[in-house]
Amino acid sequence: MTPAVFDFSGQTVLIVGGTSGIGNAAAVRFAASGARVVIAGPDDVQGSAVAAELGAGVEFVKADAASARDMAGLVATTVQRHGRIAVAINNAGIEGPFGPLQDLDEADFDRVIAINLKGIWLGMKYQINHMLAKGGGCIINTSSSAGINAIPMVAAYSASKHGVVGLTRAAALELAASGIRVNAIAPGPVHTALLERMVDGAIPLSDIAAQVPMRRIASADEIAEAMLWLASDGSSFMTGHIMVLDGGMTVA
Ligand SMILES: NC(=O)c1ccc[n+]([C@@H]2O[C@H](COP(=O)([O-])OP(=O)(O)OC[C@H]3O[C@@H](n4cnc5c(N)ncnc54)[C@H](O)[C@@H]3O)[C@@H](O)[C@H]2O)c1
Repeated sequence: MTPAVFDFSGQTVLIVGGTSGIGNAAAVRFAASGARVVIAGPDDVQGSAVAAELGAGVEFVKADAASARDMAGLVATTVQRHGRIAVAINNAGIEGPFGPLQDLDEADFDRVIAINLKGIWLGMKYQINHMLAKGGGCIINTSSSAGINAIPMVAAYSASKHGVVGLTRAAALELAASGIRVNAIAPGPVHTALLERMVDGAIPLSDIAAQVPMRRIASADEIAEAMLWLASDGSSFMTGHIMVLDGGMTVA
């Protein structure tokens, strides 16, 4: 993949769930395109190390997507340091246990929904108030191909990602006239730690690749690239869109 050229000079990009995988790949690309990038996640040690590695344009703020206090504090801290959030990416996600839904523990179900669905709402809640005050902005949420077509054995995950589609569309309509665009990405299988944990060796990644019409798993960079375009003026008339990047999986 040859990355396109984007210019986010002078803009601040906030990435919740930006310390690994897709979010990390997006942080690298936004920073290389001139943005100031704030990555957020629950793990202080990992987050600080990742930010240090990415260099001066990237900083880490500890925040749990499932905590209203943390999400409010994250937006407040970012605004205090940088004045305005141009782009907010709500990308935090966990896979939850693999298995039949009737065997899921209530606590596991609640945790998946708290991070993957409520976390997206909490992120948007505080980002939107800030963006309304500033007269505009761009929000990108991370759903999944599991939010378009159901995936058995990860019912809570699949339900949470369907929920992200609904939240994104409702937010887009509520904000369409206010200068805030809200879109989502829906990746198919992407080579990250989450995918490896999700299948936990039970399903070889080659078997997953074989289910993709393109016969391969995406790289995190290929997904990040779509985020940059959704954040750019190139997508200025697009809101409420769920951008599917799945090698053709949901076409069938
Ligand atoms: N890898 C895939 O195949 C795939 C496919 C479709 C969608 N996704 C989605 O992409 C997103 C990124 O996942 P990834 O594949 O890069 O995996 P990953 O595990 O590398 O990234 C997940 C990110 O979420 C963060 N996170 C987890 N719990 C959090 C919390 N409580 N608060 C804040 N941040 C938290 C992690 O720190 C990490 O940065 C997730 O929402 C995931 O559901 C992944």
